[in-house]
Order: sequence, then structure tokens, then C-alpha cells
Amino acid sequence: MSAAGVERLIVAMDGPSGTGKSSVSRLLASRLGASYLDTGAMYRAATVWVLSQGVDTTDVDAVTAAVASLPLEIGTDPTAERVEVAGEDVTGPIRGAEVTAAVSAVSAVPAVREKLVAMQRDIATRSDRVVVEGRDIGTVVLPDADLKIYLTASAETRAARRNDQNVADGRGDDYAGVLADVQRRDLADSTRALSPLRPADDAVTVDTSDLTKDGVIDALLRLVHDLQGARS
Ligand code: DC
Repeated sequence: MSAAGVERLIVAMDGPSGTGKSSVSRLLASRLGASYLDTGAMYRAATVWVLSQGVDTTDVDAVTAAVASLPLEIGTDPTAERVEVAGEDVTGPIRGAEVTAAVSAVSAVPAVREKLVAMQRDIATRSDRVVVEGRDIGTVVLPDADLKIYLTASAETRAARRNDQNVADGRGDDYAGVLADVQRRDLADSTRALSPLRPADDAVTVDTSDLTKDGVIDALLRLVHDLQGARS
């Protein structure tokens, strides 16, 4: 890396949910002085748009037609999330139950993926330093990324984290049910035909089961420094 720290760096962060991927990706981007792109937020915003058009999210043709005119704007500041659809701030609605329930169907539509992947490549290639977070970044979106991380954690760890969150949010304590749901989603995500969830062949897998968030960040910063050392 140059002394000014401006050498181009694209980091792909993939993995299932419940690994701490979003908070780790944001923090890593901040520590690197990089931009941050949350591609899950883009699929969620596309879902907001489709729902706002009164479209049945399981109707592939209707979803395809609706996303042809998707008016999406996404910010890349790791410290301030900004997602707009048709000029409206949707940072709250994209995390709501209605969107969370519909986003899997919308993100499985090929036209949605084509449109968003093109936007993601455009944003990433216009940034000098960027951390891009998603499910298919190292495999499909940015196969030439400088560093590919696959964050993982055991199904039990991810289920325990989600169950703890449910308890904290007053949504009940059901570890066994949450674990069954995590295992079901893992199977569905890793076996789906379009962009299945899997590490890229050249990804570094980091298991966060027994690491604190700071421990994960330290491990990732070491990988970046190793990469920069190898380049100089
Ligand atoms: O990470 P998240 O929960 O915000 O992702 C929302 C949805 O979008 C989830 O169903 C997975 C999907 N997604 C995807 O298919 N590809 C990505 N690159 C990112 C997210």
C-alpha cells in the first residue's frame, strides 16, 4: 500500500446471515477508510419498490416488469446508511417484516439479480477502496476482488445469536425452532440454482463462532495487511 493508503482495494464479504457479517463489514470499511456497499439492502429496496407497485412478488413476469424501472439510490458511507427508492428514504421499511418475508422471492428473479449485479459492479469499480457485502460477491459480482472473505459460524452459534436477539426484542425464546429454521435456510441457500451461497474457490473462510467482533476485525485487518505486504 502507498503511504497515503490510496491503493485500490476491493474486499468481497460473503456468507450466511447470523455471522455478524454486516457489522463486521461496516467496521472493516471504516477502519480501512473504504466505502461500504450492502447488497442485501439493495435486494430489500427492490422488494420495497415491487411491493409499492402492487405487484405479486411470486409473479416472476410482473416482478421483472416492475424492476425494469427501479429508481434505487444507495449510499456507500459505512457510518451512515442511505437507501432511497423513488427519492424516498426506505432505510426503515427495508428491515420491516413485510419486506423480509418477500425478499427471498424477489431476489430469486433473474432480472432482479441482473439489474442489481450491474449496479453493484458499477459502484464497486468507481470506488478506490470498497468493502462489498452479500452472498455472491466473490463468486459472481466481483470475481476479481483483491480479497474475498467468507464469514461463517456454526448453525448452532447463528441460531443462538438469533434466538438471543428474539428474546431481547420480546419475540420469545425458541432455540430449537430457530436452529431448525437456520438449517432449513442453509440448505435452501446453498442448493438454489441461481447464485447458490458458497465460498469462492479463492476465498478465505473465517469462522466467527468463537471470536468476538474485535477478534474478527483483527483477523480481517491482518489479511488486508498480508495482501498489501505481498503486493509491495
Ligand atoms: O443480507 P440480507 O438479509 O439483508 O439480505 C436480504 C436478502 O437478499 C436475503 O434473502 C438474501 C438476498 N441477497 C442475495 O440474494 N444476494 C446478495 N448479494 C445479498 C442478499
